[in-house]
Amino acid sequence: MKIILLMVTSLDGKTTRWNESRIFQWTSKEDQDNFSSLIKKKSLLIMGRKTFDAAKKMIKLSPKILHVVFTTEPEKYLDLVVPGQLEFVNGSAINIINKLDDRGYKEALLLGGEHLNTEFFKEKLVNEVWLTLEPYLFGIGNQLVLSEKLNIDLTLQSITKLNKKGTLLLKYEANKN
Ligand SMILES: NC(=O)c1ccc[n+]([C@@H]2O[C@H](COP(=O)([O-])OP(=O)(O)OC[C@H]3O[C@@H](n4cnc5c(N)ncnc54)[C@H](OP(=O)(O)O)[C@@H]3O)[C@@H](O)[C@H]2O)c1
Repeated sequence: MKIILLMVTSLDGKTTRWNESRIFQWTSKEDQDNFSSLIKKKSLLIMGRKTFDAAKKMIKLSPKILHVVFTTEPEKYLDLVVPGQLEFVNGSAINIINKLDDRGYKEALLLGGEHLNTEFFKEKLVNEVWLTLEPYLFGIGNQLVLSEKLNIDLTLQSITKLNKKGTLLLKYEANKN
């Protein structure tokens, strides 16, 4: 399966402003529009439980899109499950992706956060990184990945300037080694 990691960060690599859980106070309208149109085109969206908690009010369920939320306590979310639309999973990223492969999914957007991203990178599951860079410095906040030893090699494929302020959409391909 092809997995594209989609995230927005500040210039200093923060995916949240300080300890705020919501990101839409500082992400540009252009990035939000880009995000909204992309997620409508993909049939599989993968996220960590904390990202789900931060975004759940905005998630619109549809039979065309499966949202997969990683949590060590899937039993806590049984009431929310809609098979094929919203599912809660526990386990290693590679096992879960293999199961989704078997169900016929060919492409996924990985939507964070840093815990889940790190696991996917460690398992070499990420094929592309699409990163929106917003021109802010926050100093404190979550990161794209945890502060752990990683060695992921990427090649830039394209740069798109999304607005006058200088929000950039950078698309990278992960080099397999
Ligand atoms: N700027 C951006 O583009 C962007 C994107 C996404 C998120 N965010 C922000 O980042 C924050 C959340 O990120 P985060 O790194 O703290 O959390 P996260 O990665 O979204 O979620 C971490 C949680 O995912 C579950 N998990 C991770 N790996 C698992 C595995 N292999 N098996 C089972 N469960 C697993 C665990 O849930 P349990 O605790 O339930 O077991 C863990 O506590 C939010 O504030 C969100 O707004 C920003």
